[in-house]
Amino acid sequence: MSGARVMVVGGGGREHALAWALARSPRVGEVILAPGNAGTADLGPRLPTPLGLATPEAVGWLAAEAERRAVDLVVVGPEAPLVAGLVDALAARGVAAYGPTRAAAELEASKAHAKSFMQRYAIPTAGAVTTDRPEVAGEAIDAFAARSGGRVVVKASGLAAGKGVTVAFDPAEGRAAAAAAFAAGERQVVVEEFLEGDEVSLLVVCDGRHALPLPLVEDHKAAYDGDVGPMTGGMGTLAPVDPWGPTGLQEAIRSVVTPTLEGLRAEGRPFVGTLFLGLMLTSGGPRLLEYNVRFGDPELQALLPLLASDAFELLDGAARGRLGDVRPVWRPGACACVVMAAEGYPGPPKTGVVIDLPSDLGRDVVVFHAGTARDADGRLVSAGGRVLGVTAVGRDAVAAVERAYEAVDRIVFPGAHVRRDIGRRARRW
Ligand code: AMP
Ligand code: GLY
Repeated sequence: MSGARVMVVGGGGREHALAWALARSPRVGEVILAPGNAGTADLGPRLPTPLGLATPEAVGWLAAEAERRAVDLVVVGPEAPLVAGLVDALAARGVAAYGPTRAAAELEASKAHAKSFMQRYAIPTAGAVTTDRPEVAGEAIDAFAARSGGRVVVKASGLAAGKGVTVAFDPAEGRAAAAAAFAAGERQVVVEEFLEGDEVSLLVVCDGRHALPLPLVEDHKAAYDGDVGPMTGGMGTLAPVDPWGPTGLQEAIRSVVTPTLEGLRAEGRPFVGTLFLGLMLTSGGPRLLEYNVRFGDPELQALLPLLASDAFELLDGAARGRLGDVRPVWRPGACACVVMAAEGYPGPPKTGVVIDLPSDLGRDVVVFHAGTARDADGRLVSAGGRVLGVTAVGRDAVAAVERAYEAVDRIVFPGAHVRRDIGRRARRW
């Protein structure tokens, strides 16, 4: 084999997109997917992950496999293996990895930890009270709600795949969410001031010293049109968006990104991988809602089709501390990703539904798979909550969104849950 052997860890749309982009690099010889999904089969071999991805045993097993297979670079998609120490286990075996160590990944592992980190480094964020006592949570809910027309935000502290957050319309709804989190065994909840504004995802590729911001992305996290309903992992994305103009982005880098990376370095845990900031642009400037320590999904699905330069060069450069030499080139135009989720999502999804996916949906359309599988007859079936990411590039945001919905309408997926207003906020900006 000539060219690098890369292992992509994870099995969602983000990992399909990573494998798709890496496989196009002339410097990549093979992409191994651990475990990938039904859509990744033609990109490279799949490595089943019998222990999963989220425990110390699982990451130990994966690191041993990467070493045994002489993998040159491991790109870690989801947060769970990062939090379980996969990058540390790989480093111990001398395998290069794109992703943060367990110590640096703590920013996503615990919302309570993240909040105290933000406060320690004076990073602008929503006012918050973190507590393990239901009565303290109740008082904080009433106090924050009184200041924001009844609205208040309640977050379970642990990893929740983006679903542990309730944006409540009144204190009673907030109290119910806190009670539900404690009843589910959550030790701490974070009660937050409700922030009003435009929300964007800022993804920054980091090599421990350099930081390279990617174009801003608009995600739609609520389940239903109009940004209402329960939180999901993300129902669709549009990139690039520009709600702030260049000075807003510079302000976010100055007030949020730089102090975060400097704080981590000062604490002896320099950050390699994607620092993903959920930002709200309020009338008082950008405020940080949350940290994630990996690429957003479906954010990355709308970014990689716009990347004209080599994805391997970017990720390998970051993993090896050489981001200073990398200058990514972006295509003009915009990219939209519309998620087709299973009936029931974000609740228990209906699986095993047969999907008819036309092989050619047109130029500049690519469908990234997430929860898909093949049934005994080889038919494509739903196998998870978010099932497909239907992604299209167009000359501008409107064209990209239209092209993505045209493709969605040609896919036969009975009962699919699709938001029809992806990109709505960007059209207003
Ligand atoms: P998080 O997982 O903390 O990013 O929260 C999920 C989503 O809830 C965010 O993407 C926002 O849309 C919303 N959200 C979180 N915190 C706040 C807040 N303080 N004010 C308003 N909306 C919020
Ligand atoms: N789309 C939001 C996330 O990846 O957490």
